[in-house]
Amino acid sequence: MNLKFLSLNIGVMLLSVEAGAQQRFVDVDALIARMSLEEKIGQMTQIDLGVIARGSICNLEKPQNLDSQKLTTAISMYHIGSVLNVGCGSGAMSLERWRSIVRQIHRENQRLSRLNIPIIYGIDAIHGANYTLGSTLFPQQIGLAATWDTALVRKVFAASAYETRAAGTPWNFSPVLDLARQPLWSRFFETFGADVHLSSSMATAAIKGLQGDNPASPYHVAACMKHFLGYGFPLSGKDRTPAWIPDRELRAYFAPPFQAAIKQGAMSVMINSGAINGIPVHANADIMSGLLRREMGFEGVAISDWEDIQKLLNVHHVAADLKDAVRMSIEAGLDMSMTPNDFAFCDLLAELVREGRISERRLDSSVRRILIMKARLGLFDTTIFGDEIYPDFGSEKHKNLSFEAAAASLTLLKNNADVLPLKNKERVFVCGPAAHSMHLLNGAWSRTWQGNDTSFHHDNRKTIAASLRNYLGPERVLDDAACADRKSLLRMAAKSDKIVVCLAEDPGTEIPGNIDDLNLPRAQQELVTALSKLGKPIILVCCFGRPRIIHETAKQAEGILYAYLPGDEGGRAIAACITGRINPSGRLPFTYPRTANEFVNYDHTASEEIHTDFSNTAYRPEFDFGAGLSYTRFRCDTMVVSQEALGDGDSVEVRVQISNTGNKSGTETVQLYYRDPVASITPAVKKLIAFRKISLEPQTRGTLRFVLYKEDFALVNRNLKKIAEPGIITLQVDRFKHDINIH
Ligand code: GLC
Repeated sequence: MNLKFLSLNIGVMLLSVEAGAQQRFVDVDALIARMSLEEKIGQMTQIDLGVIARGSICNLEKPQNLDSQKLTTAISMYHIGSVLNVGCGSGAMSLERWRSIVRQIHRENQRLSRLNIPIIYGIDAIHGANYTLGSTLFPQQIGLAATWDTALVRKVFAASAYETRAAGTPWNFSPVLDLARQPLWSRFFETFGADVHLSSSMATAAIKGLQGDNPASPYHVAACMKHFLGYGFPLSGKDRTPAWIPDRELRAYFAPPFQAAIKQGAMSVMINSGAINGIPVHANADIMSGLLRREMGFEGVAISDWEDIQKLLNVHHVAADLKDAVRMSIEAGLDMSMTPNDFAFCDLLAELVREGRISERRLDSSVRRILIMKARLGLFDTTIFGDEIYPDFGSEKHKNLSFEAAAASLTLLKNNADVLPLKNKERVFVCGPAAHSMHLLNGAWSRTWQGNDTSFHHDNRKTIAASLRNYLGPERVLDDAACADRKSLLRMAAKSDKIVVCLAEDPGTEIPGNIDDLNLPRAQQELVTALSKLGKPIILVCCFGRPRIIHETAKQAEGILYAYLPGDEGGRAIAACITGRINPSGRLPFTYPRTANEFVNYDHTASEEIHTDFSNTAYRPEFDFGAGLSYTRFRCDTMVVSQEALGDGDSVEVRVQISNTGNKSGTETVQLYYRDPVASITPAVKKLIAFRKISLEPQTRGTLRFVLYKEDFALVNRNLKKIAEPGIITLQVDRFKHDINIH
């Protein structure tokens, strides 16, 4: 039996009975009735670990330790309800240290607080419990999206939840549900890509994995879908700069992944730091209350992003002073402030209530949502579980899951003359920035915020070069490690049969991750150009968080393997792919731009195809959305549609037969698109509506079945209503097209 809510007129009673685990009732409204104003405001306050740790803000003692006086102030004077993060400016801690710190916070809260409302610890476990030493680092989300495998992605998020809860941190600021439609954006890698349907499908999988059927279990956490919304589409491509997104596009593109997460029961949301159409989202009631709650039905906790109330004053300049900023964000619908470095929020909100400018009743609605989240997590019963129940923390089992996900993400974009996989006895020369690196495989949010502290990434047994050596033996793998200069590198490369160049970009996220030029860094371009003069086949391995422009460099390569940011097991997965132990099956979750100024996504409109010569050839990405090759060959044989018409309550079945005509087993992702030739809104030339993977042995075939409903073809119209308009829709799989009539 899972969680059941009994909503009574005296408030919300929570009855949570999980097999064998009886949790006590939490009468949220009765608890609120007993709370002082300051205690209510405390529940709405989240502080960084640094505020209660030894050392100064963003310059803490290492490793992190609590400061008992600061902790006493936070609990006794400010009644804080939440702590977050690993400590601004600090790096990952051991599992033991995490558990000790979390236990001490709970112990002091029990000793000092009047009502003993549990403090909830929030953390960014972005690709595994990245701030806990020894945890499993999985591929970043963009690579998970490239697997097109929602069942696998759900397992990854479940394993991440397991290792996150083990540390006593039951609230994960994940998943990122922003759409990556601006390749310059520094957080492109944190998303599930550019497509509405793929991102929405992955959002559902992520929430299922993180929260499970009962978030009170020791192996699940509260998810926090972020950053609501439109954060990933800044005009300039620079993080936290203005986005101009009309209401219709906001609902047609950027809201659906969050809607999918809400439908799956996401327990919290983090608000976008930026501004949309000139209004900071943290001060926009139309978005935070209108769209998020009334239109989309979200009932969970809305937390700010880092210092975003202060940013209304000092970045967006819409508030005259901090008190005004507090008022604006609370009136707009914010539940909790990630302050996170001081208590000004508490003092100012108390003033606003005492002055009658914010009602205490308004605070009650936020406190209720926060207490319900804590109760659903079982925190009133168990704030931290015994470490003996986490045997899989950092286990081989989780590492192998990370390897499986990394392997499934690898996207083969070019394979001229079957240059890959390597053939028997071929010698390979490995070079490039990512060849001997672990931190370049992980990217940001890896042991430190920016992921660039290599002291945390010392497991050099698992780099791409080391992994290739493990598979092929030292005699077949040459590398650039001992090459002091370009001349010696070329001399070494000349001894090989094929050359693998491991390209990368510096780890980085948010504003530190901003770049001015999407082109592959010049030094890497020059390296490939120099190697190309040797006349040996070159294979590029791209460990990128965002699609760096490789148009000229790609011409110099016979093979291109796009690896995204594949995590700690990425080196092993890349080597397994290059040596043929795995057959790549990843498919691009975004449109790969050909030049640094062509940001046209695959679901563009007809007008974006008109070339300078007025032909319809302007859309020419380097690689298309959904692209990816295999070491075998797949052929779509037939597409059969069950009926020609689709009305209310109807469904249409689409059967697609696929053959593996090659000599290796492999996995294909069948993608079902549609085109609306005429609509009340300028229609996209194609849009993904369904996808499914199929694994086939050589010379075998299989059939996939899709069932579609009229509402699957709905668009957001001029009146912001989601409707499926009557008319012809063209379904497309591979080269097959079939019209159906929506009525
Ligand atoms: C950061 C990020 C957000 C993260 C939060 C807490 O600024 O924007 O994604 O969850 O702060 O670390």
